[in-house]
Parts: sequence; structure tokens; C-alpha cells
Amino acid sequence: MNKQEKRHSWAEPYKIKMVELLKMTTREEREAAIIEAGYNTFLLRSKDVYIDLLTDSGTSAMSDRQWSGMMLGDEAYAGSENFYHLDDAVKKFYGYKYVIPTHQGRGAENIISKILIKPGDIIPGNMYFTTTRLHQELAGGKFADVIIDEAHDPDNEFLFKGNVNIEKLESLIKTAGARKIPYIALATAVNMAGGQPISMENLKALREVSLNHGIKIIHDMTRVAENAFFIQRNEEGYSDKSVSEIVLEICSLTDGATMSAKKDALVNIGGFLAMNDPDIYEEARNLVVVYEGLHTYGGLAGRDMEAIAIGIEESVNDDHIRARIGQVEYLGDLLINSGIPVVKPIGGHGVFLNAKKFLPHLKQIAFPAQTLAAEIYVDSGVRSMERGIVSAGRNKDTGEHNFPNLELVRLTIPRRVYTQAHMEVIAESIESVYSNRENIKGMKMIYEPKYLRFFQARFEKL
Ligand code: F0G
Repeated sequence: MNKQEKRHSWAEPYKIKMVELLKMTTREEREAAIIEAGYNTFLLRSKDVYIDLLTDSGTSAMSDRQWSGMMLGDEAYAGSENFYHLDDAVKKFYGYKYVIPTHQGRGAENIISKILIKPGDIIPGNMYFTTTRLHQELAGGKFADVIIDEAHDPDNEFLFKGNVNIEKLESLIKTAGARKIPYIALATAVNMAGGQPISMENLKALREVSLNHGIKIIHDMTRVAENAFFIQRNEEGYSDKSVSEIVLEICSLTDGATMSAKKDALVNIGGFLAMNDPDIYEEARNLVVVYEGLHTYGGLAGRDMEAIAIGIEESVNDDHIRARIGQVEYLGDLLINSGIPVVKPIGGHGVFLNAKKFLPHLKQIAFPAQTLAAEIYVDSGVRSMERGIVSAGRNKDTGEHNFPNLELVRLTIPRRVYTQAHMEVIAESIESVYSNRENIKGMKMIYEPKYLRFFQARFEKL
């Protein structure tokens, strides 16, 4: 592998110069905290959490270069210098022609959905994401899952479980008609499948379909660098290319992108919408003023845009991404070696526990993943997140629960934040919950919000 032959370890290409002290809690304190939180890890106070694996979103450690960039914020209402740095970084590292900053990823999703989707449209994609699908629905569209079947099987070890099932997509285009399909929602490093990558070969095939039918590809590029790393390591013909080159190639096969810069791009807040089409850019520039702010700040401070610009460059560095995924795989291997059921292969941004197998005595309607996340928190103060029936919400037409195949607990690893010893504490805790699994009882939902219910739902032990 390029530039890395001499070092076998994934060890971090940075050292620590500032630390944040954590409170160590007792089991009794954690039991009280989780009841107070309605058994929903989203409702815990972070001061009561020891190792926070709720999300990799906005939780990364910024570099000294990013922090120094924060001091160079040009807080002008219009035409901030930092906007132009962001614009340059998006052009240079992602290759998109136009960029509009947004307060975070869902701000970009809102704008592109409003511009491209008409009521009755269908938006095919490689698995749903919660906020993305909701914005598609709010714009009057309907999401259609066209990811390969392997992605719904946590035990299938195919290396590119983020791939699109091209036949499924073709047949959807045939029955619905290309005019009903404004774009294909293409995610790299598919979050809900477990951070699973799409291969370049599949993306090229998808591009052909898109060009043949005149259907755009809008790229959810939130974790594109992680996807590029898997292509570099596992796809023929890419081992000599840098992650940066692969990222550019991925973006070149798409028409535009929504980005939550809170993930790959190593910042605590921010996102953007990017595209190549000047007409869409013009509409987006108009709409962003309504929902986010002027097109040169989109709800962000100048300093935030500067930190994103610098973070983008750091995020596509080969050594950075190798260490990032190396750490995730280190945790994954510890769990696999202890016989814990996890989604395989280990994905880019976290390890996903298979709650159906972990707690086989619980029916899905007793919320096994929600239950397991609460148990892990009580055991050790490690906070994880449900990605199963609660996250999947209800069917838009029938109002029934969606029952996804994947009933998962996500252990999401923030970038550049925790150490190898922390990974060991996490593994030990999950092993201890696993050895006590037969005594774990399920839950019922006692409060259910209308939108994105997983964030604020409350539960009670059965
Ligand atoms: N797309 C993907 C693939 C995401 O993972 C997220 C956020 C978004 C879009 C929305 O971006 O949060 O900046 O508005 N995912 C977070 C997570 C919340 O924990 O997975 P946002």
C-alpha cells in the first residue's frame, strides 16, 4: 500500500495536546440517569456519560490548525473570506463547481428536496437515512430502497454492502417512469447498513443508468473519505491511488451532494449543498436565504466555515483515514473474538451490534436494540444508539411500525477522540452485558414524537 509499507500498526498520526476530563459514575447513578432519560440514550445528560459513542456527528476533535483557523473567522454578513476558503476546498477536494453552506447536513437535504422533488415522485436510494428520507417525504416524494439484499443481512461479509442493486433500480425506472424519479439518492459509506461502502465498479454502473435515463445522482457524501479508504484497500485497481484521488473520482460520478461536515470533515457543526448545475445552484441560492441564511454563510459563522475548509483537507489524508478506520476495526475485532454478534464486515464509522442475535428472546416490538443500548449504559457509562425499529419509524401510508431487518445498536466512534484503552473498556462492558443477556427484559414505548421519534421517544421496562 502506498506510503504505508513500513508501518503495520494503524497508530494515530497525531499526538494529544489538550484533554477533557470525564466524570466517573457509579452503577446506581447510571440506573437513576437512564430511568430519568426514559431509557433513551439521546435523553441522557452528557455529564453522566463516560465514553460517548452516541454518534460520530459533531463529536470529532479538531486539530490545532482548525482551532487556529477559528481565530481567523471573518464574521461579515456577506462575502466572508472563510466562505471562499470553503468554496476552494470543496472544488479542490470534491470537484463540485458550486457550494452553498448550510447549518448542517439536513439543511442541505431540505433545500435539494424542495428544489428537485414534486409530489408523487419516487427517490430510489441505497438504504434510507432518517433525516434524508423525512425531507424527501415532506417534499411529497417517496423513498424506494434499491440497495443490494446483502446490506440487510448483518452476517453477510460481502465487502461492498453499500452497492446499488442495478436490476432493482432499472425495473423501478421501468415501472415508475424516469420522469417520476428526480434523482437517485446515493450514499457513500451507508450509515444505516453499518457504514458499508459502495464499490467504484458499482458506482460506475449506476452512473451509466443515470446517464441513460437522464436521472441525476445526488450524493450523500457525509462519509465519503471512509468509503474511499475501503475502495483503496479492497477494490482491484485502487491500491496505488490515494484516498484523496478516490474521493474526487467518486464525486465526479455524481451531479451534486449534500454534506454533513460534522462527520468526515472533522468539525463540530456545519454542512453544505454542492452541485455542478448552474440552474440548481441559482435556485438553491434563493432558497437558502429562506431557511439558513445568505448563500455565503448558510447559518454558519465565518469561523465554522474556516474549520470545515481545513477539516476537509485533513479528512482525505491517507494516514488519518487509515488510523480512523483502524481504531473502529480494532474494537470490532475485540468483539468478534469474544463471540459478540456484530454486523460484518466492520464498517467505517462504528461497530454495530446485532441486537436480534444478542437478545434473541425479545420480539422486535419489545425494542431489543433500544433495550441493549440502555443496558450497556447502565453497565459502564458507555453511550450508544438504537438503529432498529425505533429509528425506522412508521410507514407513511399505513401508520404501522416499519419492522427493519436490521435491529442494531450503533457504537459510533468519534474521530481523534478516544484511545485504544477506551476501546478495551467498551469491549469489556459489552462482554459483561452479553454474559448476562438472558436476564434482560424488553420495553414498551410510552411517548412517541411524530417526527424522527428515536430522538425523543420514552420507554418503560416491561
Ligand atoms: N446523512 C447521513 C448519512 C448522516 O449520517 C447524517 C447524520 C445526515 C445525513 C444528516 O446530517 O446531522 O448534519 O443534519 N447523521 C448523524 C448520525 C445524526 O448520528 O448518524 P446532520
